Amino acid sequence: MIRPLNQQDACQLMRVYKYCFSSNAWTSEVFRDYFIKPEWNGVFGYGYFSLISPLNHDYSLSDELLIGFIMGRTICESNDLLTIAVHPDYQSMGIGAALCKTYIDALTVDCLLEVSIQNKKAIRLYTSFGFDVITIRKGYYVTELDSPDAYVMKRSV
Ligand SMILES: CC(C)(COP(=O)(O)OP(=O)(O)OC[C@H]1O[C@@H](n2cnc3c(N)ncnc32)[C@H](O)[C@@H]1OP(=O)(O)O)[C@@H](O)C(=O)NCCC(=O)NCCS
Repeated sequence: MIRPLNQQDACQLMRVYKYCFSSNAWTSEVFRDYFIKPEWNGVFGYGYFSLISPLNHDYSLSDELLIGFIMGRTICESNDLLTIAVHPDYQSMGIGAALCKTYIDALTVDCLLEVSIQNKKAIRLYTSFGFDVITIRKGYYVTELDSPDAYVMKRSV
């Protein structure tokens, strides 16, 4: 089930984020603020939820378990796709594509994103939805090990 995200999803967003990214730039508070603080006007996103988790028996049948999400922001007639993530146990099942489609179907403006040039899977996903590389940002992602460049990709409406 895909539905729009809200501030109540902040802890689950953080949980999926932690599994998917080594960076600790985002916290549950940051996720919550996106949906409630006026300075984050224009932020929205969608989550892919499972009502039953075959992999986690701590959840009861009535709980929604967040499997993946996509988030972005529309501001000044342009949209920035901020991030997409699918829990590693559920990748390569089409969930990323389903989230991308829901997000793009909601857009009425051009969409921009940054992606590490090393992230071949994400680049293939974006390309399949009509994103093209428009420029490269050198050393955009700084980690303890390296600082890969980023592609800036754009999808025009
Ligand atoms: C990038 C990411 C969101 C993709 O999510 P996903 O759910 O694995 O994506 P999909 O399943 O829709 O597609 C991925 C692959 O699975 C394949 N696939 C889709 N459904 C499938 C199915 N039923 N059976 C087999 N393969 C399938 C797709 O063809 C695609 O193949 P490709 O990578 O060779 O092109 C995910 O890998 C992720 O969370 N990565 C870590 C976070 C990240 O890097 N985010 C991007 C930041 S810019």
